[in-house]
Amino acid sequence: MQPPHLLLFLFLPILLPGMWADPEAEPQVIQYLLTSLFANISSAEVSCVALVGDIPFLTLHPANWSIHFYWPWLSQAAAQGDSEKLMSQYKIALRNIIRFVHDTVQQTEQHYPLVVQFRGGCVLYPNTTSQGFLNIGWDGRDLVAFEVGKQCWEARQPSQVAELVSNSLNKQKSVRVFLEHLLSIWVCQSNFLALKRYGREILERQELPVATVFARTPSPAQLLLVCHVTGFYPRPISVAWLRDGQEVPLGPALNTSPILPNADLTYQLHSVLAVTPRDGHSYVCRVRHQSLGSRSLLISWENRSAAPTIGITIAVLLILATASAGGFWWWKHRKGNEAAWETQEFTI
Ligand SMILES: *[C@@H]1O[C@H](CO)[C@@H](O)[C@H](O)[C@H]1NC(C)=O
Ligand SMILES: *[C@@H]1O[C@H](CO)[C@@H](O)[C@H](O)[C@H]1NC(C)=O
Ligand SMILES: *[C@@H]1O[C@H](CO)[C@@H](O)[C@H](O)[C@H]1NC(C)=O
Repeated sequence: MQPPHLLLFLFLPILLPGMWADPEAEPQVIQYLLTSLFANISSAEVSCVALVGDIPFLTLHPANWSIHFYWPWLSQAAAQGDSEKLMSQYKIALRNIIRFVHDTVQQTEQHYPLVVQFRGGCVLYPNTTSQGFLNIGWDGRDLVAFEVGKQCWEARQPSQVAELVSNSLNKQKSVRVFLEHLLSIWVCQSNFLALKRYGREILERQELPVATVFARTPSPAQLLLVCHVTGFYPRPISVAWLRDGQEVPLGPALNTSPILPNADLTYQLHSVLAVTPRDGHSYVCRVRHQSLGSRSLLISWENRSAAPTIGITIAVLLILATASAGGFWWWKHRKGNEAAWETQEFTI
């Protein structure tokens, strides 16, 4: 059995010495994700992506395994020093891994098709400490993990295949020493340092949320107010409903979706509030997000009158009242146009 001598293909270290940390920051994660589908004994399809946070910076072309860098400075950095040597050998490592998986399948009498996943990288904490990690998943379940501090592989499930894989990988002392170095020095230090130097716009990217409010009527006795918020980055966001200026507490009437990704690496979610039609209250969807600074995005919906002009007038009056209380405000045109007459959007 041929173990994957060169797991290093997972890591494209950028060799710059040193360490960095921003005490204000959240933990930062660099990870290399590799998914391989083994359809039968003679087939292996490999895809790979590397991310900083949730932003990809590198992919592997599935057809010829060539590397695509998302930014030119990455390919420049990766062509320097020892990185160049590593770059020339990652395809050999990949072939060794594929052979290792096929051998393991035969020894343990597993069945095709099979999906094997690798997840390796580093978490950098705000207190400047960092932790490298490398896990292998087998058909969607954790199989083995590399303990960086102990320089050894440990089974993550009580199975024959997990035992065999961890024992087999642990026999390769030079690989274990190499992996420890790769994770804790190259990924945890050099990759992060390079990002700090060149990739500030990646780490500090911000996209403004766009919010729309519209209503649905599932039954004559019920009105669902939907606040749809999209196009924002980074992911953390706060969306709340205000009834006559007071925040509506969590409860059965309030239903907020999970945060879902958009194709352009932004996020979306919606919050639905069930109300009684024409209950005489005013409703405002309030969005807070890092990109807005200390301002909030407020989108009002008037639940009083069916007449559009009156609705707009009241909404404008509400805006003016809120704005004068808040001290300043400005108008921001909504990008979406749904239900234009019954919603008004502004930021304060
Ligand atoms: C193995 O799987 C690949 C991909 O699904 C397929 O193209 C190929 O024909 C299969 N080979 C055998 C021997 O079954
Ligand atoms: C890999 O394949 C893609 C698409 O087929 C192609 O654009 C790219 O140039 C290829 N890279 C190499 C190094 O052959
Ligand atoms: C740094 O922070 C991490 C995560 O909060 C913690 O696990 C670790 O022990 C801390 N290290 C030190 C030296 O404070």
